[in-house]
Amino acid sequence: MKAILQDAFGGPEVLRFGEAPAPPVGPGRVSIRVGATSVNRPDIVQRQGNYPPPPGESPILGLDAAGTIEEVGAGVTGFARGERVFALLGGGGYAELAVAHAGHVLKTPKSLSVEQAACIPETYLTAYMNVFGNARLADGETVLLHGGGGGVTTAAMQLCKVLAPRARVLVTASTGKVERVAALAAELGLDCAAIDYKREDFADAVLRHTDKRGADVILDHIGGAYLAQNLKALAVGGRLALIGVMGGRKAEIDLARVLVQRIAIVGSVLRPRPVDEKTALIRRFERDVLAHFAAGRIAPLIHRVYPLAQAAEAHRAMEAGEHFGKLVLEVAA
Ligand SMILES: NC(=O)c1ccc[n+]([C@@H]2O[C@H](COP(=O)([O-])OP(=O)(O)OC[C@H]3O[C@@H](n4cnc5c(N)ncnc54)[C@H](OP(=O)(O)O)[C@@H]3O)[C@@H](O)[C@H]2O)c1
Repeated sequence: MKAILQDAFGGPEVLRFGEAPAPPVGPGRVSIRVGATSVNRPDIVQRQGNYPPPPGESPILGLDAAGTIEEVGAGVTGFARGERVFALLGGGGYAELAVAHAGHVLKTPKSLSVEQAACIPETYLTAYMNVFGNARLADGETVLLHGGGGGVTTAAMQLCKVLAPRARVLVTASTGKVERVAALAAELGLDCAAIDYKREDFADAVLRHTDKRGADVILDHIGGAYLAQNLKALAVGGRLALIGVMGGRKAEIDLARVLVQRIAIVGSVLRPRPVDEKTALIRRFERDVLAHFAAGRIAPLIHRVYPLAQAAEAHRAMEAGEHFGKLVLEVAA
């Protein structure tokens, strides 16, 4: 099969379009003929050598696959060859064939294209698990989302529309993206304010937008560089869901503030979680969210679609940070 391979860790130039053996379909798994996959920030970290796949998973990049069932492994029921599906992968999405645990596969609603379906698993599950699971956002509360325009953040905005429609949504974005965040929020009907983090201290802006109360929930992928401001921006009883450390893994923490404000900090990474935990998460997501995609109430925001052979270009675009929404790799036209 055709796949994106790498012989060394490093910049986008280490990615090459080549031939790899088709992955074996073990018991409890299915293989998917991949129509499209999408680029996630963790792919870049893996390419650089800092995010190895869990044991037993493909070393090929790619956490999402959308396409059709190619082969069903022993013990798997409920899937037929040719059926349209999309799946969360432990790896291997940047290829013509990918193998997924059967419990991590969802049937693609008719309303979604293969490119749209490819944007869902890693991105929406991360947003869902953290904002609504770990940080327990309740309808009517205030949530601060960092990284406006990013895949996870645009997904989280959409999930607020369908799961917490009365939430106040504050979104930080860089100067060129604040207007687009505001436009997306208006399109979704969110009660939203976009904060230009390059021009003002985001914690001050959050306090201004909440009458000094602060946000109940923060979704943060910056980590160290944002910790002090995040703590300042949280309301009493606030929850900080940490999903990345793009701004450093170490920081000093004011524990007195954590005590007095009754703050909870919850970190998580999706990929290394046990298979059964991911299955349970995906079933909850299927129950709570899939019908909203099927009804067209939300749909992934695609910035650009690249042919699989141009994966390096897509990585360069993500690292340049000019995208707004998801970058998709089309595997089979
Ligand atoms: N824990 C998990 O399970 C999990 C799963 C998936 C993703 N993630 C993490 O979630 C984050 C988002 O992933 P993604 O795939 O949505 O990536 P993405 O589309 O590239 O979004 C990242 C966003 O972060 C912003 N950003 C980049 N550097 C920044 C900085 N120094 N300060 C503030 N903002 C910055 C960028 O916007 P600007 O250019 O406008 O700043 C961009 O919109 C990544 O850190 C990723 O590793 C975690």
